[in-house]
Amino acid sequence: MALQATEEDILLARRMIGAAERHDVPALKVLLKEGSANVQDPTASVATSPLHAAIASCGKAEEGKEAGDDAIQTVKLLLQNGAIWNDLNREDETPGCIALRLGQKKVYDIMVEAGVRAEILFAKMAALGLGDHTVDVEIEEREEAAEEQPATKKQKVSEEDVKEIPQTMEDPTVLDDVSLDNHAYLKSQLRYKDKILLDSSDNAVMMDWEDQIMRRHAETINPKPGLKVMNVGHGMGLVDTAIQTHNPAEHHIIEAHPQVHQRLRETGWYDKPNVHIHEGRWQDILPKLVEQGIVLDGIYYDTFAEDYAALKEFFAEYVIQLLAKDGVFGWYNGLGADRQICYDVYTKVAEIDLYEAGFDTVWEDINVPAGLHDKKNWEGTRRPYWTIDVYRLPINTFVK
Ligand SMILES: C[S@@+](CC[C@H](N)C(=O)[O-])C[C@H]1O[C@@H](n2cnc3c(N)ncnc32)[C@H](O)[C@@H]1O
Repeated sequence: MALQATEEDILLARRMIGAAERHDVPALKVLLKEGSANVQDPTASVATSPLHAAIASCGKAEEGKEAGDDAIQTVKLLLQNGAIWNDLNREDETPGCIALRLGQKKVYDIMVEAGVRAEILFAKMAALGLGDHTVDVEIEEREEAAEEQPATKKQKVSEEDVKEIPQTMEDPTVLDDVSLDNHAYLKSQLRYKDKILLDSSDNAVMMDWEDQIMRRHAETINPKPGLKVMNVGHGMGLVDTAIQTHNPAEHHIIEAHPQVHQRLRETGWYDKPNVHIHEGRWQDILPKLVEQGIVLDGIYYDTFAEDYAALKEFFAEYVIQLLAKDGVFGWYNGLGADRQICYDVYTKVAEIDLYEAGFDTVWEDINVPAGLHDKKNWEGTRRPYWTIDVYRLPINTFVK
Protein backbone atom coordinates (compact mmCIF):
# COMPACT_ATOMS: atom_id res chain seq x y z
CA MET A 1 0.00 0.00 0.00
CA ALA A 2 1.29 3.48 -0.86
CA LEU A 3 2.49 5.44 2.14
CA GLN A 4 1.61 9.10 2.68
CA ALA A 5 4.23 11.31 0.97
CA THR A 6 6.29 13.36 3.42
CA GLU A 7 7.29 16.97 2.80
CA GLU A 8 10.78 15.69 2.04
CA ASP A 9 9.39 13.29 -0.61
CA ILE A 10 7.43 16.09 -2.24
CA LEU A 11 10.48 18.34 -2.32
CA LEU A 12 12.60 15.62 -3.89
CA ALA A 13 9.85 14.91 -6.45
CA ARG A 14 9.69 18.58 -7.40
CA ARG A 15 13.47 18.79 -7.78
CA MET A 16 13.54 15.64 -9.86
CA ILE A 17 10.67 16.75 -12.08
CA GLY A 18 12.30 20.18 -12.46
CA ALA A 19 15.63 18.66 -13.49
CA ALA A 20 13.85 16.35 -15.96
CA GLU A 21 11.94 19.30 -17.40
CA ARG A 22 15.18 21.26 -17.93
CA HIS A 23 16.89 18.16 -19.36
CA ASP A 24 19.58 18.64 -16.75
CA VAL A 25 21.24 15.23 -16.92
CA PRO A 26 24.00 15.82 -14.31
CA ALA A 27 21.48 17.07 -11.71
CA LEU A 28 19.14 14.21 -12.46
CA LYS A 29 21.94 11.66 -11.99
CA VAL A 30 22.55 13.00 -8.49
CA LEU A 31 18.84 13.09 -7.61
CA LEU A 32 18.28 9.55 -8.87
CA LYS A 33 20.67 8.35 -6.14
CA GLU A 34 18.21 9.74 -3.59
CA GLY A 35 14.88 8.68 -5.05
CA SER A 36 12.93 6.68 -7.61
CA ALA A 37 12.58 7.74 -11.26
CA ASN A 38 8.83 7.35 -10.77
CA VAL A 39 8.28 10.03 -8.17
CA GLN A 40 5.17 12.12 -8.65
CA ASP A 41 4.29 15.38 -7.00
CA PRO A 42 0.89 14.67 -5.38
CA THR A 43 0.30 18.39 -4.95
CA ALA A 44 0.70 19.15 -8.67
CA SER A 45 -2.51 19.73 -10.66
CA VAL A 46 -1.48 17.18 -13.31
CA ALA A 47 0.38 14.34 -11.59
CA THR A 48 3.46 14.18 -13.72
CA SER A 49 6.41 11.85 -13.48
CA PRO A 50 9.91 13.03 -14.42
CA LEU A 51 9.54 11.13 -17.72
CA HIS A 52 6.26 12.88 -18.57
CA ALA A 53 7.87 16.21 -17.67
CA ALA A 54 11.03 15.56 -19.71
CA ILE A 55 8.99 14.78 -22.83
CA ALA A 56 6.35 17.48 -22.41
CA SER A 57 9.01 20.18 -22.14
CA CYS A 58 10.42 19.25 -25.56
CA GLY A 59 7.53 21.12 -27.15
CA LYS A 60 6.07 20.53 -30.59
CA ALA A 61 8.47 19.19 -33.21
CA GLU A 62 6.55 20.96 -35.98
CA GLU A 63 7.36 24.27 -34.33
CA GLY A 64 11.06 23.54 -34.86
CA LYS A 65 11.50 22.07 -31.39
CA GLU A 66 12.92 18.68 -32.34
CA ALA A 67 14.19 17.00 -29.13
CA GLY A 68 17.91 17.64 -28.76
CA ASP A 69 20.65 15.43 -27.30
CA ASP A 70 20.01 16.57 -23.74
CA ALA A 71 16.33 15.66 -23.97
CA ILE A 72 17.15 12.25 -25.45
CA GLN A 73 19.78 11.60 -22.76
CA THR A 74 17.28 12.60 -20.06
CA VAL A 75 14.64 10.21 -21.36
CA LYS A 76 17.17 7.38 -21.65
CA LEU A 77 18.57 8.04 -18.16
CA LEU A 78 15.10 7.91 -16.61
CA LEU A 79 14.26 4.68 -18.43
CA GLN A 80 17.57 3.12 -17.39
CA ASN A 81 16.63 3.99 -13.83
CA GLY A 82 13.31 2.21 -13.95
CA ALA A 83 10.88 4.89 -15.21
CA ILE A 84 7.61 3.17 -16.16
CA TRP A 85 6.95 3.24 -19.90
CA ASN A 86 3.15 3.22 -19.62
CA ASP A 87 2.65 5.23 -16.43
CA LEU A 88 -0.39 7.51 -16.68
CA ASN A 89 -0.66 11.13 -15.64
CA ARG A 90 -4.00 12.62 -14.58
CA GLU A 91 -4.76 13.47 -18.19
CA ASP A 92 -4.62 9.76 -18.98
CA GLU A 93 -1.46 10.10 -21.05
CA THR A 94 1.58 7.85 -20.98
CA PRO A 95 4.96 9.49 -21.70
CA GLY A 96 4.77 7.95 -25.18
CA CYS A 97 1.32 9.50 -25.77
CA ILE A 98 2.86 12.92 -25.09
CA ALA A 99 5.75 12.26 -27.48
CA LEU A 100 3.28 11.23 -30.17
CA ARG A 101 1.05 14.25 -29.59
CA LEU A 102 4.06 16.57 -29.86
CA GLY A 103 5.34 14.82 -32.98
CA GLN A 104 8.60 13.90 -31.24
CA LYS A 105 9.35 10.84 -33.36
CA LYS A 106 12.79 10.06 -31.92
CA VAL A 107 11.46 10.15 -28.37
CA TYR A 108 8.37 8.15 -29.35
CA ASP A 109 10.56 5.41 -30.85
CA ILE A 110 12.63 5.28 -27.65
CA MET A 111 9.41 4.87 -25.66
CA VAL A 112 8.21 2.05 -27.93
CA GLU A 113 11.54 0.25 -27.53
CA ALA A 114 11.32 0.68 -23.76
CA GLY A 115 7.79 -0.73 -23.75
CA VAL A 116 8.84 -3.76 -25.78
CA ARG A 117 11.78 -4.45 -23.45
CA ALA A 118 9.59 -4.14 -20.36
CA GLU A 119 6.79 -6.36 -21.71
CA ILE A 120 9.21 -9.07 -22.81
CA LEU A 121 10.89 -8.96 -19.42
CA PHE A 122 7.56 -9.24 -17.56
CA ALA A 123 6.47 -12.14 -19.76
CA LYS A 124 9.76 -13.94 -19.12
CA MET A 125 9.44 -13.35 -15.38
CA ALA A 126 5.89 -14.66 -15.43
CA ALA A 127 7.01 -17.74 -17.37
CA LEU A 128 9.67 -18.36 -14.72
CA GLY A 129 7.01 -18.08 -12.04
CA LEU A 130 8.58 -14.98 -10.54
CA GLY A 131 5.61 -13.53 -8.74
CA ASP A 132 5.09 -10.46 -6.62
CA HIS A 133 7.09 -11.85 -3.71
CA THR A 134 10.32 -12.52 -5.53
CA VAL A 135 10.74 -9.31 -7.51
CA ASP A 136 11.96 -6.11 -6.02
CA VAL A 137 9.55 -3.42 -4.98
CA GLU A 138 10.21 -1.19 -7.95
CA ILE A 139 9.26 -3.88 -10.44
CA GLU A 140 6.17 -4.65 -8.37
CA GLU A 141 5.18 -1.02 -8.56
CA ARG A 142 5.70 -1.08 -12.30
CA GLU A 143 3.45 -4.07 -12.75
CA GLU A 144 0.75 -2.45 -10.68
CA ALA A 145 1.01 0.73 -12.68
CA ALA A 146 0.98 -1.09 -16.02
CA GLU A 147 -2.62 -0.22 -16.76
CA GLU A 148 -2.58 -1.56 -20.31
CA GLN A 149 -2.34 -5.31 -20.56
CA PRO A 150 -1.57 -7.04 -23.82
CA ALA A 151 -4.99 -8.39 -24.62
CA THR A 152 -6.27 -9.98 -27.75
CA LYS A 153 -9.39 -8.78 -29.51
CA LYS A 154 -11.71 -6.25 -27.93
CA GLN A 155 -10.41 -6.59 -24.45
CA LYS A 156 -9.10 -3.71 -22.42
CA VAL A 157 -8.35 -4.20 -18.81
CA SER A 158 -8.74 -1.07 -16.73
CA GLU A 159 -7.67 -0.61 -13.14
CA GLU A 160 -11.30 -0.52 -12.04
CA ASP A 161 -12.03 -3.81 -13.75
CA VAL A 162 -9.09 -5.46 -12.06
CA LYS A 163 -10.50 -4.47 -8.69
CA GLU A 164 -13.76 -6.08 -9.72
CA ILE A 165 -12.31 -9.51 -10.50
CA PRO A 166 -13.88 -11.80 -7.93
CA GLN A 167 -12.51 -15.00 -6.45
CA THR A 168 -14.76 -17.21 -8.56
CA MET A 169 -13.72 -16.19 -12.04
CA GLU A 170 -16.00 -18.65 -13.77
CA ASP A 171 -19.32 -17.38 -12.55
CA PRO A 172 -20.60 -14.77 -15.01
CA THR A 173 -23.23 -13.66 -12.52
CA VAL A 174 -20.56 -12.21 -10.23
CA LEU A 175 -18.29 -10.79 -12.91
CA ASP A 176 -19.20 -7.28 -13.95
CA ASP A 177 -17.12 -7.54 -17.12
CA VAL A 178 -17.19 -11.06 -18.56
CA SER A 179 -14.49 -10.22 -21.10
CA LEU A 180 -11.99 -10.48 -18.24
CA ASP A 181 -12.29 -14.24 -18.22
CA ASN A 182 -12.76 -16.62 -21.13
CA HIS A 183 -14.85 -19.13 -19.15
CA ALA A 184 -17.12 -16.39 -17.81
CA TYR A 185 -17.56 -15.00 -21.32
CA LEU A 186 -18.39 -18.45 -22.70
CA LYS A 187 -21.16 -18.84 -20.10
CA SER A 188 -22.55 -15.38 -20.68
CA GLN A 189 -25.54 -14.31 -22.75
CA LEU A 190 -24.72 -12.91 -26.21
CA ARG A 191 -26.81 -10.55 -28.32
CA TYR A 192 -26.62 -10.63 -32.11
CA LYS A 193 -27.75 -7.28 -33.49
CA ASP A 194 -27.70 -5.86 -36.98
CA LYS A 195 -24.06 -4.79 -37.15
CA ILE A 196 -22.66 -5.91 -33.87
CA LEU A 197 -22.30 -8.88 -31.54
CA LEU A 198 -22.41 -7.93 -27.85
CA ASP A 199 -21.64 -9.90 -24.71
CA SER A 200 -23.64 -9.60 -21.48
CA SER A 201 -21.36 -6.80 -20.25
CA ASP A 202 -21.99 -4.74 -23.42
CA ASN A 203 -18.54 -5.40 -24.81
CA ALA A 204 -18.53 -5.44 -28.59
CA VAL A 205 -17.34 -8.96 -29.39
CA MET A 206 -17.39 -8.17 -33.11
CA MET A 207 -18.55 -5.30 -35.33
CA ASP A 208 -19.25 -5.19 -39.02
CA TRP A 209 -16.80 -2.32 -39.74
CA GLU A 210 -14.15 -5.05 -39.61
CA ASP A 211 -15.50 -6.73 -42.72
CA GLN A 212 -12.77 -5.41 -45.04
CA ILE A 213 -10.11 -6.52 -42.57
CA MET A 214 -11.69 -9.98 -42.28
CA ARG A 215 -11.86 -10.36 -46.07
CA ARG A 216 -8.17 -9.58 -46.36
CA HIS A 217 -7.30 -11.97 -43.54
CA ALA A 218 -9.29 -14.67 -45.31
CA GLU A 219 -7.42 -14.10 -48.59
CA THR A 220 -4.04 -14.32 -46.91
CA ILE A 221 -4.47 -17.77 -45.34
CA ASN A 222 -4.57 -19.86 -48.55
CA PRO A 223 -8.27 -20.75 -48.82
CA LYS A 224 -7.80 -22.23 -52.31
CA PRO A 225 -9.48 -25.27 -53.91
CA GLY A 226 -7.51 -28.35 -52.85
CA LEU A 227 -6.19 -26.70 -49.67
CA LYS A 228 -7.31 -26.99 -46.04
CA VAL A 229 -7.83 -24.04 -43.73
CA MET A 230 -9.04 -23.43 -40.19
CA ASN A 231 -10.63 -20.44 -38.47
CA VAL A 232 -10.81 -20.17 -34.70
CA GLY A 233 -13.68 -17.97 -33.48
CA HIS A 234 -16.78 -17.62 -35.69
CA GLY A 235 -18.29 -14.45 -34.16
CA MET A 236 -20.40 -12.77 -36.84
CA GLY A 237 -19.09 -15.16 -39.48
CA LEU A 238 -17.37 -12.43 -41.50
CA VAL A 239 -14.07 -14.20 -41.96
CA ASP A 240 -15.75 -17.59 -42.49
CA THR A 241 -18.06 -16.13 -45.14
CA ALA A 242 -15.03 -14.66 -46.90
CA ILE A 243 -13.14 -17.96 -46.68
CA GLN A 244 -16.09 -19.79 -48.27
CA THR A 245 -15.98 -17.54 -51.35
CA HIS A 246 -12.55 -19.07 -52.16
CA ASN A 247 -13.88 -22.64 -51.96
CA PRO A 248 -11.17 -24.45 -49.99
CA ALA A 249 -11.18 -28.26 -49.88
CA GLU A 250 -11.66 -28.24 -46.10
CA HIS A 251 -12.81 -25.35 -43.93
CA HIS A 252 -12.54 -26.08 -40.21
CA ILE A 253 -14.21 -23.79 -37.69
CA ILE A 254 -13.51 -23.98 -33.96
CA GLU A 255 -16.07 -22.19 -31.82
CA ALA A 256 -16.75 -22.45 -28.10
CA HIS A 257 -19.86 -20.38 -27.35
CA PRO A 258 -23.18 -22.32 -27.35
CA GLN A 259 -25.11 -19.34 -28.75
CA VAL A 260 -22.67 -19.07 -31.63
CA HIS A 261 -23.22 -22.80 -32.29
CA GLN A 262 -26.93 -22.05 -32.42
CA ARG A 263 -26.27 -19.23 -34.88
CA LEU A 264 -24.08 -21.53 -37.01
CA ARG A 265 -26.98 -23.98 -37.08
CA GLU A 266 -29.58 -21.36 -38.00
CA THR A 267 -27.44 -19.96 -40.79
CA GLY A 268 -26.75 -23.35 -42.40
CA TRP A 269 -23.06 -23.71 -41.67
CA TYR A 270 -23.40 -27.32 -40.52
CA ASP A 271 -24.81 -28.25 -43.93
CA LYS A 272 -22.00 -26.84 -46.05
CA PRO A 273 -20.13 -29.77 -47.65
CA ASN A 274 -16.56 -28.58 -47.05
CA VAL A 275 -17.16 -27.18 -43.55
CA HIS A 276 -16.15 -29.04 -40.35
CA ILE A 277 -17.35 -27.44 -37.15
CA HIS A 278 -15.56 -28.28 -33.92
CA GLU A 279 -17.60 -27.26 -30.90
CA GLY A 280 -15.46 -26.36 -27.91
CA ARG A 281 -12.54 -24.26 -26.79
CA TRP A 282 -9.46 -24.38 -29.03
CA GLN A 283 -7.50 -25.33 -25.92
CA ASP A 284 -9.46 -28.63 -25.85
CA ILE A 285 -9.87 -29.22 -29.60
CA LEU A 286 -6.37 -28.56 -30.89
CA PRO A 287 -4.53 -31.27 -28.91
CA LYS A 288 -6.92 -33.79 -30.52
CA LEU A 289 -6.30 -32.43 -34.04
CA VAL A 290 -2.55 -32.64 -33.41
CA GLU A 291 -2.97 -36.23 -32.25
CA GLN A 292 -4.89 -37.03 -35.46
CA GLY A 293 -1.97 -35.66 -37.46
CA ILE A 294 -4.05 -32.99 -39.23
CA VAL A 295 -2.04 -30.60 -41.39
CA LEU A 296 -3.52 -27.28 -42.53
CA ASP A 297 -2.51 -24.82 -45.25
CA GLY A 298 -3.93 -21.84 -43.44
CA ILE A 299 -4.90 -21.00 -39.85
CA TYR A 300 -6.65 -17.88 -38.60
CA TYR A 301 -7.12 -16.94 -34.93
CA ASP A 302 -9.60 -14.36 -33.63
CA THR A 303 -11.14 -15.20 -30.27
CA PHE A 304 -12.52 -13.08 -27.46
CA ALA A 305 -11.85 -12.59 -23.74
CA GLU A 306 -8.41 -14.07 -24.11
CA ASP A 307 -5.13 -12.31 -23.43
CA TYR A 308 -1.84 -12.15 -25.27
CA ALA A 309 -0.55 -15.20 -23.40
CA ALA A 310 -3.33 -17.25 -25.03
CA LEU A 311 -2.37 -16.05 -28.51
CA LYS A 312 1.25 -16.89 -27.78
CA GLU A 313 0.31 -20.37 -26.56
CA PHE A 314 -1.80 -20.79 -29.70
CA PHE A 315 1.03 -20.17 -32.14
CA ALA A 316 3.99 -21.42 -30.11
CA GLU A 317 2.31 -24.70 -29.08
CA TYR A 318 -0.20 -25.51 -31.82
CA VAL A 319 0.28 -23.58 -35.05
CA ILE A 320 3.83 -24.91 -35.27
CA GLN A 321 2.42 -28.46 -35.18
CA LEU A 322 -0.65 -28.04 -37.39
CA LEU A 323 0.55 -25.73 -40.15
CA ALA A 324 1.98 -27.11 -43.40
CA LYS A 325 5.56 -26.16 -44.29
CA ASP A 326 4.32 -23.53 -46.77
CA GLY A 327 1.21 -22.66 -44.78
CA VAL A 328 0.13 -19.22 -43.59
CA PHE A 329 -0.94 -18.18 -40.12
CA GLY A 330 -3.06 -15.07 -39.59
CA TRP A 331 -4.35 -13.58 -36.36
CA TYR A 332 -6.46 -10.63 -35.37
CA ASN A 333 -4.12 -7.86 -34.29
CA GLY A 334 -6.16 -5.93 -31.78
CA LEU A 335 -3.65 -5.75 -28.97
CA GLY A 336 -3.82 -2.35 -27.24
CA ALA A 337 -5.82 -0.80 -30.09
CA ASP A 338 -7.22 1.91 -27.84
CA ARG A 339 -3.84 3.60 -27.41
CA GLN A 340 -1.31 4.02 -30.23
CA ILE A 341 1.81 3.38 -28.17
CA CYS A 342 0.34 0.20 -26.68
CA TYR A 343 -0.60 -1.01 -30.15
CA ASP A 344 2.93 -0.33 -31.42
CA VAL A 345 4.52 -2.01 -28.41
CA TYR A 346 2.37 -5.15 -28.50
CA THR A 347 2.65 -5.46 -32.28
CA LYS A 348 6.43 -5.51 -31.89
CA VAL A 349 6.31 -7.91 -28.92
CA ALA A 350 4.18 -10.30 -30.97
CA GLU A 351 6.60 -10.07 -33.90
CA ILE A 352 9.52 -10.95 -31.62
CA ASP A 353 7.68 -13.87 -30.01
CA LEU A 354 6.54 -15.14 -33.40
CA TYR A 355 10.10 -15.07 -34.66
CA GLU A 356 11.23 -16.98 -31.59
CA ALA A 357 8.55 -19.58 -32.36
CA GLY A 358 9.82 -19.89 -35.96
CA PHE A 359 7.67 -17.41 -37.92
CA ASP A 360 8.45 -14.46 -40.16
CA THR A 361 5.88 -11.67 -40.14
CA VAL A 362 4.84 -9.42 -42.99
CA TRP A 363 2.57 -6.51 -42.03
CA GLU A 364 -0.06 -4.92 -44.24
CA ASP A 365 -1.44 -1.59 -43.10
CA ILE A 366 -5.17 -1.00 -43.55
CA ASN A 367 -6.82 2.32 -42.72
CA VAL A 368 -9.90 1.83 -40.56
CA PRO A 369 -13.11 3.38 -41.97
CA ALA A 370 -13.35 7.17 -41.81
CA GLY A 371 -15.59 8.28 -38.97
CA LEU A 372 -15.09 5.08 -36.97
CA HIS A 373 -14.07 7.05 -33.90
CA ASP A 374 -17.35 9.03 -33.80
CA LYS A 375 -19.08 8.48 -30.47
CA LYS A 376 -22.29 7.40 -32.15
CA ASN A 377 -20.63 4.28 -33.57
CA TRP A 378 -19.91 3.05 -30.07
CA GLU A 379 -23.23 3.86 -28.43
CA GLY A 380 -24.50 0.94 -26.37
CA THR A 381 -21.04 -0.59 -26.03
CA ARG A 382 -19.04 -0.67 -22.84
CA ARG A 383 -16.06 1.08 -24.42
CA PRO A 384 -14.62 1.77 -27.86
CA TYR A 385 -12.09 -1.00 -28.38
CA TRP A 386 -10.56 0.68 -31.42
CA THR A 387 -9.39 4.31 -31.29
CA ILE A 388 -6.42 4.34 -33.66
CA ASP A 389 -6.31 4.89 -37.41
CA VAL A 390 -4.42 1.96 -38.90
CA TYR A 391 -4.94 -1.79 -38.56
CA ARG A 392 -1.67 -3.71 -38.94
CA LEU A 393 -2.55 -7.04 -40.52
CA PRO A 394 -0.04 -9.82 -39.83
CA ILE A 395 0.83 -12.55 -42.32
CA ASN A 396 3.00 -15.28 -40.83
CA THR A 397 4.95 -18.00 -42.56
CA PHE A 398 7.65 -20.32 -41.26
CA VAL A 399 11.14 -18.80 -41.34
CA LYS A 400 12.92 -20.28 -44.38
C1 LIG B 1 -14.25 -11.63 -32.23
S1 LIG B 1 -15.21 -13.01 -32.51
C2 LIG B 1 -14.60 -13.60 -34.07
C3 LIG B 1 -15.06 -12.76 -35.20
C4 LIG B 1 -14.83 -13.40 -36.52
N1 LIG B 1 -13.44 -13.30 -36.92
C5 LIG B 1 -15.72 -12.80 -37.59
O1 LIG B 1 -15.21 -12.61 -38.71
O2 LIG B 1 -16.87 -12.52 -37.35
C6 LIG B 1 -14.52 -14.16 -31.37
C7 LIG B 1 -15.16 -15.51 -31.38
O3 LIG B 1 -14.31 -16.41 -30.67
C8 LIG B 1 -15.10 -17.27 -29.86
N2 LIG B 1 -14.25 -17.77 -28.76
C9 LIG B 1 -13.89 -17.12 -27.64
N3 LIG B 1 -13.05 -17.88 -26.92
C10 LIG B 1 -12.87 -19.03 -27.59
C11 LIG B 1 -12.11 -20.20 -27.34
N4 LIG B 1 -11.33 -20.32 -26.26
N5 LIG B 1 -12.14 -21.20 -28.24
C12 LIG B 1 -12.90 -21.08 -29.37
N6 LIG B 1 -13.67 -19.99 -29.65
C13 LIG B 1 -13.64 -18.97 -28.78
C14 LIG B 1 -16.22 -16.35 -29.42
O4 LIG B 1 -17.34 -17.05 -28.94
C15 LIG B 1 -16.51 -15.56 -30.69
O5 LIG B 1 -17.44 -16.20 -31.48
